[in-house]
Amino acid sequence: MHEVAPINPWVALAYLASGILFILALRGLSSPASSRRGNRYGMIGMTIAVVTTLLTHVPRTGEGAFDTIAIAEVLGAIGIGAVIGIVMARKIAMTAMPQLVAAFHSLVGLAAVAVAAAAYLNPQAFHIADAAGQIFTVSRIEMGLGIAIGAITFSGSVIAFLKLNGNMSGSPIMLPGRHVINLGTLAAIIGLVAYFLTDQSPWVFWTITALSFLIGFLLIIPIGGADMPVVVSMLNSYSGWAAAAMGFTLGNTAMIITGALVGSSGAILSYIMCRAMNRSFISVIAGGFGADADAGAGGGAKEQRPWKPGSADDAAFLMSQAENVIIVPGYGMAVAQAQHALREMADQLKKEGVNVKYAIHPVAGRMPGHMNVLLAEANVPYDEVFELEDINGEFAQADVAFVIGANDVTNPAAKTDKSSPIYGMPVLDVEKAKTVLFVKRSMGGVGYAGVDNDVFYMDNTMMLLGDAKKMADDIVKALSGSGH
Ligand code: TAP
Repeated sequence: MHEVAPINPWVALAYLASGILFILALRGLSSPASSRRGNRYGMIGMTIAVVTTLLTHVPRTGEGAFDTIAIAEVLGAIGIGAVIGIVMARKIAMTAMPQLVAAFHSLVGLAAVAVAAAAYLNPQAFHIADAAGQIFTVSRIEMGLGIAIGAITFSGSVIAFLKLNGNMSGSPIMLPGRHVINLGTLAAIIGLVAYFLTDQSPWVFWTITALSFLIGFLLIIPIGGADMPVVVSMLNSYSGWAAAAMGFTLGNTAMIITGALVGSSGAILSYIMCRAMNRSFISVIAGGFGADADAGAGGGAKEQRPWKPGSADDAAFLMSQAENVIIVPGYGMAVAQAQHALREMADQLKKEGVNVKYAIHPVAGRMPGHMNVLLAEANVPYDEVFELEDINGEFAQADVAFVIGANDVTNPAAKTDKSSPIYGMPVLDVEKAKTVLFVKRSMGGVGYAGVDNDVFYMDNTMMLLGDAKKMADDIVKALSGSGH
């Protein structure tokens, strides 16, 4: 057993405080009403953790004073990172958040690999080796896991980024015999991590690293279409475990706590999303889930079937005569930034005595909670916003389902067509409403999964073609102007 330096009680206390604040942050983020408070707790917790780490880790000179050059280096790195972070946060469109999150996860993975590599190359500096340079067994376990999880997170997140950003086809890419290749690679990684305990030769360490980069790539390329949201949350979980492994190597309690919180909350979120998408959790972790070779995304040929066009005036008339209207927002509402106009439309309708509710599908938009955030930004009251399972039974009694920029989440093919890439995903039963008003820009545009939607061609559907914001604005004008 090696000697562990006793931890300064003040440092332990500061890390404990930041850990508690992170837990409170997660608690706060579970509801839109408390999310600002949750964010604040998280920011305070992170400030405490960063300042404590800086104060305890910045090297001192022989006389005990802070080493100013080291401080300048650390502050310089923080400054550069902060500038990049601020510029990106300001510039990024809300709809591009998933790829930004994937990019950030890749950096966490890369950081874990870099820390593990630094510790491997210079173990005495990290106090994880004896005088002869033999790395302690427990540190080899931490290092092996850290490098494996970190490298998988890095390459997996890079592929997720390229797919979400449109630089790579969103369709599943199937390698022949991929299950055998994946299982073989995973078994080799586990075997090598075990062998690393007895032999710390460079070839073992670097082969684990290379195979882990490879498996991250192999696990994510077969995943496509509507299943990407689950992947992003799964990579979020992996990035947490990679950070926790780094925390062990660096002997930093705050990092272990934070990593474990991110890892477990990401795993829980993945589980919830799997249930929402009707996918099995195990097959997601194994990769390539739901990736039926002949059910690739983008396969839906659009048919020339008759459909009924409508105008903002028609929509205003129909909705003002209705008793119950259910609004179904989706990705297109986010693209058009139509949430404010939509709320004004709902306000007008409510003034006319119409009962208005919003139905939110768990994967509407491009990230978890995407629609909730936008509706909250437009001050839509929380008690008008309902989750799929709470509102799906109400479409049959609704006079109008007003679908604005949503597509896949309303597609009944998910219930009936086994060859559809979204088969098995629960969807909002909009087609059961007396009338469906469907806002999208053109009949040619498809949703994320790239498939046609039978709802467009139903007798009770009226297509309102145009930009979501402009359409909502025009309906507001029609409602307020003509005294419907
Ligand atoms: P989608 O199925 O992507 O459909 C978006 C619709 O909006 C399309 O019909 C599009 O048709 C229309 N649209 C786009 N821009 C518009 C604009 N400016 N004005 C009006 N309409 C516009 O959206 P959804 O129903 O929200 O489903 C989400 C999909 O994304 C699911 O397949 C889900 O699995 C996937 N996904 C979700 C997430 C998360 S976590 N939420 C993450 C990644 C992927 P036009 O082009 O004709 O206008």
